[in-house]
Amino acid sequence: MCEKVLKINNLGKKYFIGERVSYTALRDVLVSKLKAPFKKAASREKNFIWALRDVTFDVNDGDILGIIGRNGAGKSTLLKILSRITRPTTGSAEIRGRVGSLLEVGTGFHPELTGRENIYLNGAILGMHRTEINRKFDEIVAFSEIEKFIDTPVKFYSSGMYVRLAFSVAAHLEPEILLVDEVLAVGDAGFQKKCLGRMSEVSREGRTILFVSHNMHAVRKLCSRAIFLENGGIEAAGEPGTVINNYLSRVKDAQLSQVWEDMAAAPGNDAIRMHKVQIQLTEDEAEQLTVWTSFKIEFYFWNLEPGLKLNLSMRLYNFENILLFNSTSVFESHWHGKPFKKGLYKSTCYVPGKLLNDGMYYIDLLFIKDTTTRVCHFDNLLTFEIGEEEASRPGKWYGKYVGVVRPFLQWETEYIADPAHETKNV
Ligand SMILES: Nc1ncnc2c1ncn2[C@@H]1O[C@H](COP(=O)(O)OP(=O)(O)OP(=O)(O)O)[C@@H](O)[C@H]1O
Ligand SMILES: [Mg+2]
Repeated sequence: MCEKVLKINNLGKKYFIGERVSYTALRDVLVSKLKAPFKKAASREKNFIWALRDVTFDVNDGDILGIIGRNGAGKSTLLKILSRITRPTTGSAEIRGRVGSLLEVGTGFHPELTGRENIYLNGAILGMHRTEINRKFDEIVAFSEIEKFIDTPVKFYSSGMYVRLAFSVAAHLEPEILLVDEVLAVGDAGFQKKCLGRMSEVSREGRTILFVSHNMHAVRKLCSRAIFLENGGIEAAGEPGTVINNYLSRVKDAQLSQVWEDMAAAPGNDAIRMHKVQIQLTEDEAEQLTVWTSFKIEFYFWNLEPGLKLNLSMRLYNFENILLFNSTSVFESHWHGKPFKKGLYKSTCYVPGKLLNDGMYYIDLLFIKDTTTRVCHFDNLLTFEIGEEEASRPGKWYGKYVGVVRPFLQWETEYIADPAHETKNV
């Protein structure tokens, strides 16, 4: 019989809106006993939300559990409770084994320490001896591909470098339970593949993984079970294919727009909060989104940090998780390169018609400052479907056009000569 390594019972987490407290991980306490844990002055309002509600499930030893759900569903909250970054309001999580976690960028390492020092610190937190860590050290550094910067404080790392090292540490330091949150959205495609490969190795070694992802392809491929969270509760659980289909059918009636009325509860961080995102058709006569129609995507967001020189970077994916393109607002003429004052902004990205194939798409959005540094990122911000009016197809063939894009390219055919004609000079 399989042993249960996680028993989660009636877990609930209530957040007071406006309360957002920054995390203080155990490693911060170990490194700096002098620094008092930082707590933001709380404007404690009466409003609260249940980020998780009545969540009960077990995880067996060696399971790879995929955790899926829309933005704000409670996925990260669940992992933060399991890694003891935050406490549950109700219920309990019984954990048997050492937990290694790779949560959002920024929670894994101490910024003042070098990559090398952080590796040893993480190992020590996991209860490993120095000799054990020494044995793993070279492998970790090689996997992360950042040898040259291993003695640089991690605060100087780019987010990509940071994630490379953080993943490498989490996946090699032999935790018995590995928690991974969305990390794959950050690295490049090659590194993502490597991470997925390493995760299946880790699971073959019999360790347990909880993997939060918007990447359905990866969840389907890698996970032995999945749960679908919606509004803080478990909507479906079981075999990954079935759970994913359930989730996809839900997002399909989908989100041509999403609005967050309350700034404090909206997704984002201390610099950026999303207010609204929506798709609108840009041609008067068009009634629905099809392969022919052009459209625009409007992002309404609050900038909370005066002086940021922001640009937006949007990635469009299809549901096989293929990245079709990355478009940034660097050619925008009003605000690009200027310091943003505090306030609500709207950025619009125009997408031409006759470009995308029919199918389901989703977008990720990053906010970048000074054209290089990531300020905030939103996975799977909006899901939409491009259809096709059959009547508008010329000819009699109604099959699916293959390919990730479907550009309507110009073609020309000319009659050159009859078959008897000499074609040497053509
Ligand atoms: N520290 C916090 N203080 C107040 N509310 C919070 C805090 N952290 C999360 N929330 C809220 O709890 C809910 C669940 O958030 P969580 O980050 O767990 O979602 P998620 O499923 O990970 O979303 P995403 O897919 O966007 O990462 C959201 O409504 C969020 O705004
Ligand atoms: Mg999350």
